[in-house]
Amino acid sequence: MTTQSIHGEWSSRLAFIFAATGSAVGLGNIWKFPYITGEYGGGAFVIVYLLCVAMIGFPVMMAEVLLGKRGRASPVNSMRVLAQEFRQSKLWILLGWSGVIAGFLILSYYSVIAGWALAYVPQVASGIFVNMPAQEVGVVFDTLVANPLMLVGWHTVFLVVTMVIVAGGVQGGLERAVSVMMPALFLMLFILLGYAMSTPHFIESVHFMFDIDFQKLLYPNGEFSGDGILAAMGQAFFSLSLGMGAIMVYGAYLPKKTSIAQITAAVVFADTLVAILAGLIIFSIVFSNGLEPAAGVGLVFKILPVAFGQMPYGSFFGTLFFILLVLAAWSSAISLIEPAVAWLVETGKFTRFSASIFSGIALWLVGLLTVFSFNIWSDFKPFFDKDLFTLIDYLTANIMLPLGGVCIAFFVAWLMTRKSVIEELEMSSDSFAYHLWYFLLRYVTPIGVCVVFLNAIGVFS
Ligand code: PFF
Repeated sequence: MTTQSIHGEWSSRLAFIFAATGSAVGLGNIWKFPYITGEYGGGAFVIVYLLCVAMIGFPVMMAEVLLGKRGRASPVNSMRVLAQEFRQSKLWILLGWSGVIAGFLILSYYSVIAGWALAYVPQVASGIFVNMPAQEVGVVFDTLVANPLMLVGWHTVFLVVTMVIVAGGVQGGLERAVSVMMPALFLMLFILLGYAMSTPHFIESVHFMFDIDFQKLLYPNGEFSGDGILAAMGQAFFSLSLGMGAIMVYGAYLPKKTSIAQITAAVVFADTLVAILAGLIIFSIVFSNGLEPAAGVGLVFKILPVAFGQMPYGSFFGTLFFILLVLAAWSSAISLIEPAVAWLVETGKFTRFSASIFSGIALWLVGLLTVFSFNIWSDFKPFFDKDLFTLIDYLTANIMLPLGGVCIAFFVAWLMTRKSVIEELEMSSDSFAYHLWYFLLRYVTPIGVCVVFLNAIGVFS
């Protein structure tokens, strides 16, 4: 068994925690979590989300880190090596492939949305939102997304920076970037939380997020639908970066003697904290300005500038917020493409540099599908009555990631020997924590994900 990945290693445990938290904390926490929480009516959605994080996300993340740490390579090659080691079918390599593809698809649209945030930085800084009425703010957003050229421009900028970081390598690129970005991000988040707590409707936002009303989650239009629960589970996988090999490849760069449980706990805790705080900040502003929580994908972009336009030093806080969003997106984006880049390098036909350029160009092209789905192709709804962006998002977050997660759980809990599992975990096999983890991974994850899938396609209704 090789002991070091050919791509290098993190310099410390903390570097891994920063990188994995950087991967987990992103648009998913600050843009997506608040808007889907708004759409599904608040409290009940949040509770189901938290349950999914604790009972499925946390154990799967430990399993995913474990696979990477044992495989020491890109998800494709890690799965090849592990299937061999544990005498399993070669088809397990497909799990690695599905990860590479999911990461690629997610980043293709992720970069476009992050481009919106980039576009907002100079706009907010210039002060155009000062005292602007809510309706006009909405028009600014609608004008931006209706303009394919602008979107392509910002999408390009975002991707170029992402690929430059990835080309820099594990320590020189990824680690260096996240060790600046993560502390900056937490600092900005706490400044904004301070502001949110000073708004008149902070408490209302706490109630919105924590008062449980299953009526709103299960019967959004008065009719039963399992969609809210699927969305909560998909969001747990998406937000924790699970089921597609990003965390696996980061695990491959861990020094061999590292115990997995604590570092995973730190990442899960940080990710959940950021999502909850982002929700509280955003809904405080929404309610304090009499706005609508169910505004969909535009929530952060149509609503926050209204508040920034009215508060003292709003242009400053607003600029800070959008910079925060972009930094969070960058540290996630690099992990979305790292599985593909690592694999390309392992083929021996690419250097890290050429692999980054090649993936960047491919991502840019596929990203155009998302760009156009907001304007010239907005009526093109090829399947399930969803536009291309919504379709890619649904397919990846709600289907590919949970399925990938179940396969990861299955491999670790049913196919690997207990001895090697314990060896990689660096955890005592007598401890309660170990038994709980193994139980969750063996039974709760696969059954839970299946039930949510069946529920979503209406089997129980
Ligand atoms: N976790 C990131 C977010 O919340 O924005 C998105 C993401 C990154 C998903 C990496 C999946 C992944 F592998």
